[in-house]
Amino acid sequence: MILAPSVLASDLGRLADEIAAVERGGAGQVHVDVMDGRFVPNITLGPAIVEACHRATSLPIDVHLMIEGAERYLDAFVDAGASSVAVHVEALSHLQRAVEHLRKRGARPGVALNPSTPIGSLEEILPEVDFVLVMSVNPGFSFQTFLPSSLDKIRRLRDAIRARSLGARIQVDGGVNRDNIRTVVEAGVEIVVAGNAAFSGGDPEAAVRKLLEAAG
Ligand code: DX5
Ligand code: ZN
Repeated sequence: MILAPSVLASDLGRLADEIAAVERGGAGQVHVDVMDGRFVPNITLGPAIVEACHRATSLPIDVHLMIEGAERYLDAFVDAGASSVAVHVEALSHLQRAVEHLRKRGARPGVALNPSTPIGSLEEILPEVDFVLVMSVNPGFSFQTFLPSSLDKIRRLRDAIRARSLGARIQVDGGVNRDNIRTVVEAGVEIVVAGNAAFSGGDPEAAVRKLLEAAG
């Protein structure tokens, strides 16, 4: 299991220190939440922050695009150092083209699903992606509560991937904490995003270590 702390919940004024702390704690990726104020209500981070994260660590930088017209920005994020990029199925008409483009550029492509988007919408694209990001909150903000219906969705997605012998990994994002991390991992998640649970307690290194312990 890979833990991917979301720097949106970190102290951005001390970004490099915050990243160093989660890296010491055992984080396997750094998750960057990109929001445009249109696809989601909030406006957050862009390629310059991805570049700053990339400079601060040798961990892979995992970019989660919550923006309209994401196809126009794929190159900017890959150029900034993204190792993996997730695009939302709800935000792109030509999803396959975006996935293919990311792969050609050497980034691992992923597709993200809002809580109300069915896994059936992945039918055609599933063989082409490296991971599926299941949103367990409605995207837009850190510090939200995990939606319990996400667990059944994750299990059904895991079964669909297995039934077709595909390689896509499942990532979960939103409201994961020490109390529910083991359940999401048991449901089939291999990459866990954590914002609040990693950064809000004042000691991100210890928080990440405890999350990994709790995951079992
Ligand atoms: C939500 C973002 C998440 C969020 C996670 O829109 O995609 O990555 O920052 O934060 P927590 O773990 O606090 O829900
Ligand atoms: Zn995210």
